[in-house]
Amino acid sequence: MPILSGMARVAGIAGWPVAHSRSPRVHGFWLRRYGIDGAYVPLPVRPGHFDTAMQGLAAAGFSGANITIPHKLEAVALCDEMDDAAHRIGAVNTLVFKDGRIKGSNTDGFGFIANLHDHQVDPAAGPALVLGAGGAARAVVASLAVLGARVTIANRSSARAEALATQFSGVRVVAWDLRSEVLRDHSLVVNATSLGMSGHGELDLNLGLSHPALVVADLVYVPLETALLRAARHHGLRVVDGLGMLLHQARPGFEAWFGVDPTVDQELRHFVAADLAGG
Ligand SMILES: NC(=O)c1ccc[n+]([C@@H]2O[C@H](COP(=O)([O-])OP(=O)(O)OC[C@H]3O[C@@H](n4cnc5c(N)ncnc54)[C@H](OP(=O)(O)O)[C@@H]3O)[C@@H](O)[C@H]2O)c1
Repeated sequence: MPILSGMARVAGIAGWPVAHSRSPRVHGFWLRRYGIDGAYVPLPVRPGHFDTAMQGLAAAGFSGANITIPHKLEAVALCDEMDDAAHRIGAVNTLVFKDGRIKGSNTDGFGFIANLHDHQVDPAAGPALVLGAGGAARAVVASLAVLGARVTIANRSSARAEALATQFSGVRVVAWDLRSEVLRDHSLVVNATSLGMSGHGELDLNLGLSHPALVVADLVYVPLETALLRAARHHGLRVVDGLGMLLHQARPGFEAWFGVDPTVDQELRHFVAADLAGG
């Protein structure tokens, strides 16, 4: 840990709970790598205290903060301005405090697309099937739709899928029970449900029905290799795990607060993956 000067820039991650967050590890790695006079700290902010806490951080000279569950929607109301992605997604995960103003952005879609690019996957090469309609799915659908990709959503609660689809052009909905059958019509499938995550159920998807060129992406990163990705490898399909999205979504905030666009590479991946494997 470098010694801080009186000029050090400070940011953090606000959530409740926040102890599980890997963001301090990611930003701490980059701060050390680039020798930056700065710190990134966990900020356990209880529901009901979000507004006060953020105004306090801004008043105390923080550079900004990442926002996680349960505050991502509430953060919208706090912003003086928001980027296009935050508008499209309706949630904010990155705040920048500057010149007395609060700027909000949503970097989840950026992280998702940057991770696909890292794996040489063109997100708009063909139709994408997104499983899920929660917060993560919303970011994925928005980021694909803005690139002009054709998107299909399948979600357990169809009403939630319909509500999401109506917000973007070129997005349709299929019944959750048809998710395996429609695989053959898609070149990318994204698991944006919480299925496959440790402690949750497994995602039931028959990859035997897919096109041989299908790319299988999972947003879940605990465990790093989900049963879905294992099955996809078994079928000889290309896979993209969820860790890269987590790492890339952190980049815009780091650049805004600390002045360097940081690199996502194998060394960082291993550093964070070792922590994930440790539980
Ligand atoms: N890699 C990353 O950087 C990153 C970023 C964000 C999130 N994530 C991961 O993405 C996943 C989803 O996160 P989220 O924030 O979108 O959660 P969320 O808002 O709570 O949404 C959960 C989604 O999972 C579905 N689901 C839950 N249990 C189900 C079940 N038993 N059967 C079928 N569908 C089920 C829900 O369907 P209903 O609508 O029917 O309830 C909903 O679509 C989590 O595993 C999270 O860790 C990863």
